[in-house]
Amino acid sequence: MDRILVRPNGPLTGEVTISGAKNSALLLMAATLLAPGEHVLTNVPRITDVATMTELLGAIGVESERDATTVVLRSPASLLPEAPYELVARMRASIGVLGPLLARCGEARVAVPGGDDFGSRPIDMHLSGLEALGAKFELEHGYVRGWADGLRGAPVTLEFPSVGATENILMAAVLAKGSTVIENAAREPEISDLADLLNAMGAHIEGAGTSTIEVEGVETLHATKHETIPDRVEAATFLAAVAVTGGDVLLRNARADDMEMYLRKLADMGMTVTPTLEGVWSRGPERLRSVDVSTLPYPGVATDYKPLFTVMLAVADGVGIVTENLFAGRFRYVDELIRMGADVRTDAHHAVVRGRTRLSGAPVRAPDIRAGAALVVAGLVAEGETEVSGVEHIDRGYEDFVGKLAALGAHIERIST
Ligand code: EPZ
Repeated sequence: MDRILVRPNGPLTGEVTISGAKNSALLLMAATLLAPGEHVLTNVPRITDVATMTELLGAIGVESERDATTVVLRSPASLLPEAPYELVARMRASIGVLGPLLARCGEARVAVPGGDDFGSRPIDMHLSGLEALGAKFELEHGYVRGWADGLRGAPVTLEFPSVGATENILMAAVLAKGSTVIENAAREPEISDLADLLNAMGAHIEGAGTSTIEVEGVETLHATKHETIPDRVEAATFLAAVAVTGGDVLLRNARADDMEMYLRKLADMGMTVTPTLEGVWSRGPERLRSVDVSTLPYPGVATDYKPLFTVMLAVADGVGIVTENLFAGRFRYVDELIRMGADVRTDAHHAVVRGRTRLSGAPVRAPDIRAGAALVVAGLVAEGETEVSGVEHIDRGYEDFVGKLAALGAHIERIST
């Protein structure tokens, strides 16, 4: 099992190129199920979740080829509408094949998803939204079996702006007869990117990125070429690394517009962040100031940024309260941070973080993708050596994380044991 060893090495400097967005690329790949032909996706990150999605699409019948950051997916005339447990259990985003398979094949059998352990993560809104379009479901032996005798457009109002449910309903609605209106839809940039791909495939979607999405179903779609948007969560991770080390770094390709609330919070903490033609330039302060943070659906502060805030607040001047409003169980990394000397108290979905002037390096375990990356960031300012295990989580969402940090001057290496 690999481990990452980190030691403090002063301010990070230079530039880092932000890769394509994991949470977009995975759904763009699933969307290729909607039309036979050769689809070309560019700026696709080299991460294990993309490899898992490639394997899943392969099991369904889609051949693929990869060259650097370009993935070519050949979707055949007929598909095997089944997503096996061992693949779905590895990655929750696999549920994103449900809508496209129902729309394209009229049936689907998909294992109930696993993925990061943030407490209960039901798919009821996916199912009720697809049922509104005429699908029927039954749960058997850990699988959701769905069928539809031709999907029909309908109004769908989501109880909560779920990213995954919005994506599944959108991908089903584009081939449904008639029009669909999704109310209280998720507004994340990844939703807009998916809608851009679908429209380039011949779909009729309006309002993506707002809470009301309108879709006029079409008979067929065609293959196309599409560039994945940059990864705002990866960018947020590098900004946190710059923030805690007092660095000076250009994030090439980062899009300030996609993380406005995050940048506003960083500015409140004393950081300088400026959008540029190449991306986003950033400089960390002598010492961060504490702020309070609440996670919310986009355009609020994303829950994926929360472990990063907890680490920044752990070395900031003052006390900050972090409130998690999406995933009740998303504080599992706090005990690891406390092992590094952080002063964090959790109570239900709040954490009170009292900033300290120093953390100390320790062996810690990454419980999930974002918390893993945040523990590495903490290691950049913790005295002595921090040894991060559970690296396979980080690999799921970050391309060459260690290499990119080392190029910015971090004292970091990956060891295989
Ligand atoms: C997406 O997950 C992201 N994953 C997550 O990023 C991200 O944390 C999350 O959105 C929130 O921004 C991908 O895009 C692949 P949701 P998703 O459906 O779609 C509840 C990362 O590290 N809910 O918006 O699973 C749910 O339990 C990952 O990159 C239902 O109750 O999130 C949660 O409380 C981690 N029923 C809330 O809604 C449903 O049917 C938001 O979940 C669906 C969701």
